Amino acid sequence: MLSAKSLFQEILDDDESFRLFCSIAASGESQGGWENGRIAALVPESERDLAPKVARHGADEDKHGRIFHALMKKRGLRPVPVPAEADYTMLLERHGIGLAHDQLKRDEPLSVHDVVTYLAHSRVTEQRASEQMEMLRKYFAQHPDIGRAVKMISKDEDNHLAYCHEELLRFAYAGHGRTIQRILRECALAEIAVYRDVSLAVMDHMGRILGWPRAKSAVLAAGIHAVYAYERLGGWRRMVSLEMPERRDALGGPATTSVEFA
Ligand SMILES: [Fe+2]
Ligand SMILES: [Fe+2]
Repeated sequence: MLSAKSLFQEILDDDESFRLFCSIAASGESQGGWENGRIAALVPESERDLAPKVARHGADEDKHGRIFHALMKKRGLRPVPVPAEADYTMLLERHGIGLAHDQLKRDEPLSVHDVVTYLAHSRVTEQRASEQMEMLRKYFAQHPDIGRAVKMISKDEDNHLAYCHEELLRFAYAGHGRTIQRILRECALAEIAVYRDVSLAVMDHMGRILGWPRAKSAVLAAGIHAVYAYERLGGWRRMVSLEMPERRDALGGPATTSVEFA
């Protein structure tokens, strides 16, 4: 039977597919870490209370990147370059979602609108990250190699999502509600398409590495298109709602370390 669990099991069991999976994950996490680090440095004076939380967000993503590298190292594997068509973060940026890297490389403070844009972008992408990690946690929390890493990252992603909800609600109460809803909608609709394209690209590479028969690849591709159809028809709305999280100030403390994984 073809299930998400059996599919991931197969990817985890083979060195070549495992290292592609980890390389893609590590690269997305480190890009997220870099973006958040730059945003933390450029937060405008009026929002300076936010800076340590953005920095913590970035530190967490950097830590996730290091964890995926450590998982490869543990198996004696070296990272492989991420195929451009599987580079989620880069493709989102190319679709104009979030803040452009060119802007983040400059040393000019961001505007409040930029900060809202960053948070809305994160609200959408952290939802994806949180759901994906939840799926991995459901199946592999007890896995001897990746179990601990998956649990830690999953918890962090839930915190990131909670933080985005809380901060966006704060900006909404301060009068940015309409802007936030507009940006969230744009981000979500672009994200679901990028996610579909990246999923198809990743599965195509995995299929070649693992020698999947054409019928199996076709079923998987159909599944990815079905997910996109569901998301386009209304599933995207789950990515744009705002609710005060149970856990407040989720990024209030210092970052936890990844030392145990190295
Ligand atoms: Fe992450
Ligand atoms: Fe995250």
